[in-house]
Amino acid sequence: MKDKAILEYEGKKYEFPVVEGTEKELAIDIKTLRSSTGMITLDPGYKNTGSCESAITYLDGEKGILRYRGYNIEELAEKADFLETAYLLIFGELPNKEELDKFHDDIKHESHVDEEMKKILDAFPKSAHPMGVLSSLTSALIAFNPTSVNISSEKEMYYSIVRIMAKFPVLVAWTMRKQKGLPLDYGDDSLGYVENLHKMMFKRPNKEYVNNKIVIDALDQLLILHADHEQNCSTSTVRITGSSHAGLFVSLSAGISALWGPLHGGANQAVLEMLEAIEEDGGDTQKYMNKAKDKDDPFRLMGFGHRVYKNFDPRAKIIKRAADEVLSDLGIEDPILNIAKGLEKVALEDSYFVKRKLYPNVDFYSGIIYRALGIPTEMFTVMFAMGRLPGWIAQWREMRLRGEPIGRPRQVYIGENQRPFVPLKKR
Ligand code: SDX
Repeated sequence: MKDKAILEYEGKKYEFPVVEGTEKELAIDIKTLRSSTGMITLDPGYKNTGSCESAITYLDGEKGILRYRGYNIEELAEKADFLETAYLLIFGELPNKEELDKFHDDIKHESHVDEEMKKILDAFPKSAHPMGVLSSLTSALIAFNPTSVNISSEKEMYYSIVRIMAKFPVLVAWTMRKQKGLPLDYGDDSLGYVENLHKMMFKRPNKEYVNNKIVIDALDQLLILHADHEQNCSTSTVRITGSSHAGLFVSLSAGISALWGPLHGGANQAVLEMLEAIEEDGGDTQKYMNKAKDKDDPFRLMGFGHRVYKNFDPRAKIIKRAADEVLSDLGIEDPILNIAKGLEKVALEDSYFVKRKLYPNVDFYSGIIYRALGIPTEMFTVMFAMGRLPGWIAQWREMRLRGEPIGRPRQVYIGENQRPFVPLKKR
């Protein structure tokens, strides 16, 4: 604890401890605020409120820093793979070869999804948005894995984690294949985690699956870049759902639903739709910039701005570079990439965006790579969820192991004061 903060109100002084994080962040611990002052704080969107202490991910929005368990995202994106990054996030340390092999073997052992789940998938129309399908299937998994609901030991938690790490990629692949009218297949345990995901997604029933290292490496890196991001909207949803001791799978299902929103993970789909609209409009970026700045127009420049980053999102920098590399390696000329770069240039020079410190975020360029990898636009946010899976798991596990209390915010009531009931005949 660093020292104390003093609140003075109506001639009385109240002291509250100041806690300091390992990166010198300071927070006023207001656990005793209501009991000592009778007052609460009010902070819509929790822009100034810390919900927990966490050792998983560190962000510095001003400096554009992102670290998973102390490792810079730039290093992990370049030197690690997605499965070892998942292990790092969940268990706190980079695994040695034996630990990583055991984690992968345990996952492979659990990679079967009950055939009955296909009946649930069949009930959806092809037109169903993949995020709604994925959220439903993730929740439905409980029916076939009942021991993953009430977790009372670390051993039970480990197997629940391994089960969802194993089955989620199958659900992701089935969700896409359902939309494409393709048979629902299982993975290939001889492959790496991400290569297996890609094969499940793209294997054609009548063709030999041939992997492309460029594609697999690009997908692996994208999943690493999406793996965690401290207390964002969907992660906070996973934590507060799990705080009632609801199981891991339903907590993840709730997180998937929160991620779907266009202000959050759904932005990657919205960015592509916006860029395609600009292309159809003859590349008129200024028209969309004007819409984004018009207070009477609900349109926002999708893929721009961030609650925490008031500088470049470090992930956006890496993805922008990767988009160039992947498209040239695959020999793809995508005019959308040039429109995105043009839009970014105009926005970064525009006073409205500069004043509000609005920079490209993780969603601005990711869709361009997903598209180059042959992933349908409606599946972009599903890929975000696939990447975020280990982060959600890590945060849920930390919340349960720390014995965090059930999340239950307060409110300031602004409704009617007490009034007598009026019988119907008198209304
Ligand atoms: C993700 O939290 C995370 O970590 C999320 C994430 C993760 O990894 O989990 O990083 C992933 O969700 C990235 C963000 C994806 N969303 C989008 O790209 C949608 C477009 N962005 C905006 O909707 C917005 O920037 C948010 C939602 C991301 C952040 O909104 P805030 O923090 O609530 O900021 P705000 O709405 O208070 O905006 C401040 C000002 C406002 O103008 P004024 O009222 O001050 O005049 O900036 C304006 C806003 O109108 N503004 C924008 C804008 N974003 C903010 N104006 C136009 N276009 C935008 N994109």
